[in-house]
Amino acid sequence: MSKNHKKIWITGASSGIGKAVAEKFASEGWIVAVSARRKEILHDMAKHENISSYPLDVVNEETCVNTFQNILSEFGDIDLCIFCSGTYDPKKEKEIDIKQSKFVMNVNYFGVLNCVKAVEKYFKKKKEGHISIVSSIAGYRGLPNSSGYGPSKAALNNFAESIYFDFKKHNIRVSIISPGFIKTPLTDKNDFPMPFLRSVEFAAQKIYIGLTKSNSFEIHFPKQLTLILKFLRLLPYKIYLYLIYKLYKR
Ligand SMILES: NC(=O)c1ccc[n+]([C@@H]2O[C@H](COP(=O)([O-])OP(=O)(O)OC[C@H]3O[C@@H](n4cnc5c(N)ncnc54)[C@H](OP(=O)(O)O)[C@@H]3O)[C@@H](O)[C@H]2O)c1
Repeated sequence: MSKNHKKIWITGASSGIGKAVAEKFASEGWIVAVSARRKEILHDMAKHENISSYPLDVVNEETCVNTFQNILSEFGDIDLCIFCSGTYDPKKEKEIDIKQSKFVMNVNYFGVLNCVKAVEKYFKKKKEGHISIVSSIAGYRGLPNSSGYGPSKAALNNFAESIYFDFKKHNIRVSIISPGFIKTPLTDKNDFPMPFLRSVEFAAQKIYIGLTKSNSFEIHFPKQLTLILKFLRLLPYKIYLYLIYKLYKR
């Protein structure tokens, strides 16, 4: 394994945004470890000389630790981790579904926690590293029909802000990625028009630039949508709830 190239671990890499990001980093010369549950897709991706496959279910805490140790022993080092695994089923979000909410929280929130925990000691000992968490604009504020997915992403945002301080002391960068609507198998399930829908290649380019050429805490895109949502985030409840309800009723 080359010592001259930077090395990255990406979860949720078998599909959509994670897959496109893995391919982008590999095409830029990074050495890439890809993880997700679907082994066949990962093995197929590993035909690229810079990509290696490490199948993983992020809900299993022990497997996350072991997978990272396997990556480390083969790669010798890791510079950047992007935790992108996530799940969403819009049909099950229309009413409160406790079983589904627990499942979504387990994958989207605890799955990421398991991965962060797996790399924490290594980065702290090394006094260097970068952890990037793929969250969502759905985590900014409460939105209609998002009683499971939205809270899982809001929790991730709060978690990332929280560990930012402790990890910074150890010279570890923590960042979050907040995509708007990106066309993937996940959003293909939506039955409503998605404003400013973008491709996975667009997302991968924004993420690559944001993680390698800037130092910001949050990478968000497309700006046409995220800036509106950021403005809505600042509004007092009375105005925010009124505006979103008006849009929702239409
Ligand atoms: N698309 C969007 O518009 C959008 C917007 C905002 C945020 N996001 C976030 O972006 C991330 C990627 O979403 P996407 O749109 O690219 O969806 P996607 O195509 O469905 O990809 C989801 C990825 O997560 C993996 N995954 C799911 N459960 C897992 C588990 N238990 N263990 C390991 N991997 C698991 C899937 O792989 P396996 O099934 O092979 O395990 C797949 O690689 C998610 O966190 C999502 O919430 C997406």
